[in-house]
Amino acid sequence: MADTKEISEMIERRLASIELPERARGLYEPVRYALEGGGKRLRPLLAVQACRACGGSADDAVDAALGLEMFHNFTLVHDDIMDNSDTRRGRPSVAARFGNNQAILSGDAMLTLASQLMERVPEGVARAVMSEFNDMALRVYEGQQLDTEFEHRNATIDEYFEMIRLKTGALLASACRIGAMIGGADKATADALYEYGMELGIAFQLRDDWLDTFGDAATFGKPIGGDIVNEKKTWMLITARRESHGELDAILDEDLEPAEKIRQVTRLYERLRVGDRCDAAAAEHHALAIAALDKAQLAEPQLREFFIETVDRMASRKL
Ligand code: IPE
Ligand code: IPE
Ligand code: MG
Ligand code: MG
Ligand code: MG
Repeated sequence: MADTKEISEMIERRLASIELPERARGLYEPVRYALEGGGKRLRPLLAVQACRACGGSADDAVDAALGLEMFHNFTLVHDDIMDNSDTRRGRPSVAARFGNNQAILSGDAMLTLASQLMERVPEGVARAVMSEFNDMALRVYEGQQLDTEFEHRNATIDEYFEMIRLKTGALLASACRIGAMIGGADKATADALYEYGMELGIAFQLRDDWLDTFGDAATFGKPIGGDIVNEKKTWMLITARRESHGELDAILDEDLEPAEKIRQVTRLYERLRVGDRCDAAAAEHHALAIAALDKAQLAEPQLREFFIETVDRMASRKL
């Protein structure tokens, strides 16, 4: 049976061979640029492995998997405009390289290309998969909406978790459920894998937020401190606000240069040890992911190991 590495290589090959129209080169060049930028390819891998775990073949799930990766890359292209972020995967973001207008339009094209890939799933499940895909996409936009609204107001920890369930959890969860549906899973197993993906996604975003402050820019491939500059309501910021007796608000009120703002807020996080505790919160959701996995009746139980390894790998990820 194919191992994870072979599946990952197959996904990478198939992504590289996605055909884009020859016309309107200016529209599609940024699409190719975005797809060639690397990335962990976590969502397509989850979709293919969920399909195989439920008794289907990698081939059955691969178009949907590519569609999900295309969709993910679309969200990143627009996210970098919204977050004012000029670096992605260690090189200029699409917006920085091609300009905002081009990033908006090529992003639109990526969303449609993603839908077209999703349409290619095996006929029997096509309707259900498209419906899952469209529901998921709205959840992601709803999460991104909350994320931007929170830049301008305080949020509670509950609101933070709601926001990351939507903006990040929904896609990882649906990648698992779509794979399971294509593989022929029963509803209980498809839902268990969805829950696994959701908990993994929550932990994934907690880790992403941690890396945004405490990661190494060269490895992480994104600028460090962007969340602090944008006053993103991360678990760390919300906790620091609650525990710092006005000190965080005083720093944020000061209108500091970005580098100084990052330095002062990071120092406060260190003093309050919110970084370590954010990591501990991620670990709780990793445990919940494994508990959800235990509810899935996998047709190929040996693939359980893949889902556990993925949790472990994501828990200690540096990129
Ligand atoms: C970035 O996702 C967006 C978040 C949900 C934090 P990834 O960290 O999976 O990005 P790539 O695809 O590996 O670059
Ligand atoms: C997740 O949030 C982005 C999406 C759901 C598109 P971030 O804004 O934290 O993602 P990065 O850090 O830019 O990859
Ligand atoms: Mg964002
Ligand atoms: Mg961002
Ligand atoms: Mg981030």
